[in-house]
Amino acid sequence: MDNPAGRIIKILNSIELPFAVITYPDFDVIMSNAASNGNTVFPWPGGEPELSAFEDILHRSAKSRRVARYYMDGRGEAGRYEVIIAPAVTEKGNTSHIIVLMLEAAESSLFSKSNSGAVSFLPARQEQAVENERLALIGQLTLGIAHEIKNPLTVISGFAEVTKSKLSRVSGHDELKESIAYYQQEIVDNCRNMNRLLVDLLQVARPRKTEKIPVNMAGILERICNIIAPFALQRNVTLIKDLIDADVEIYTDTIKLRQVLLNLCNNAVQSMTGGGILRIRAEKSCEHLIISVTDTGCGISPDDINKLGTPFYTTKAEGTGLGLTVTYSIVRDLGGRIEVDSQLGRGTTFRVYLLLNAGQDD
Ligand SMILES: Nc1ncnc2c1ncn2[C@@H]1O[C@H](COP(=O)(O)OP(=O)(O)OP(=O)(O)O)[C@@H](O)[C@H]1O
Ligand SMILES: [Mg+2]
Repeated sequence: MDNPAGRIIKILNSIELPFAVITYPDFDVIMSNAASNGNTVFPWPGGEPELSAFEDILHRSAKSRRVARYYMDGRGEAGRYEVIIAPAVTEKGNTSHIIVLMLEAAESSLFSKSNSGAVSFLPARQEQAVENERLALIGQLTLGIAHEIKNPLTVISGFAEVTKSKLSRVSGHDELKESIAYYQQEIVDNCRNMNRLLVDLLQVARPRKTEKIPVNMAGILERICNIIAPFALQRNVTLIKDLIDADVEIYTDTIKLRQVLLNLCNNAVQSMTGGGILRIRAEKSCEHLIISVTDTGCGISPDDINKLGTPFYTTKAEGTGLGLTVTYSIVRDLGGRIEVDSQLGRGTTFRVYLLLNAGQDD
């Protein structure tokens, strides 16, 4: 059996609204429940309130009161919340503590738990719906623009290639030809980068329909290794294949799976600026074929691991930060999952789990 104090703490922690006991007149938080995220800081939306306002209320009456508070957050957004404040009075009639229960303000706002467990304020439901609609519209516009830019981009890079080859047939003016050829190559390379960004953007926003067929994984993985080998060699990276378990048939979309593995291998090779080892391994568990891509590169800090897959998160000068966004969304789409292990300065392993006995509709 719990002791009475333990039971009271359990009850307080089961209250989903933030609750705190504050000393009076010093206003130190001496106790708070789980909903208020810890025991030292009470999560006042918009920062510490004017506690003197509560003091005034307490002076007027020793009874508990429900009061509203308005505030402006760091982004200039107005918010409102309500608290119940109740004074705890000593035998002599002095207020020694204040009990504060924070309520969600009925029509104007909602409390939500952030990842860190802290309570934060969300805009009203209605405002959220308007915001979602606005974001959806921006998404559609971006998609339309991305699609429209792709065609002129192909024309620009195509003509740059044509003029480059025509220029090579002109005699004389070698210095001038060399500098023009340099600029034309820049046009072609930049068009290629932009095209890659657009392809990734379109893939995230409007993925191609998944078409699963039974495929032998050994074949796919061998082909990936053949594609990545010259790139690895160029970067002084040794490729090690461990594909004994890969001789299995899996229902999957080959084009999409290839994109996943190439993205992971590219990242792995790019992480090993001074060379290293890239290991591609296939391993069977009871339910899955686990394909792992391991590098001995720079590794990822625990903080940065949480950012992986976030659109446009990149630490590379030339990166778009869409590679893993696409990768994660494809793996989800294929009914699999992906895991990452990394040690800063030592290397990283990405593991893709694919269901072994999945049928066409899984
Ligand atoms: N194997 C890895 N080792 C170290 N860092 C990695 C690894 N894979 C991903 N990262 C980190 O995650 C970031 C995001 O990767 P992601 O593939 O999404 O984008 P990117 O490689 O920067 O650009 P791109 O869109 O061209 O692929 C990288 O910039 C890098 O910091
Ligand atoms: Mg990448």
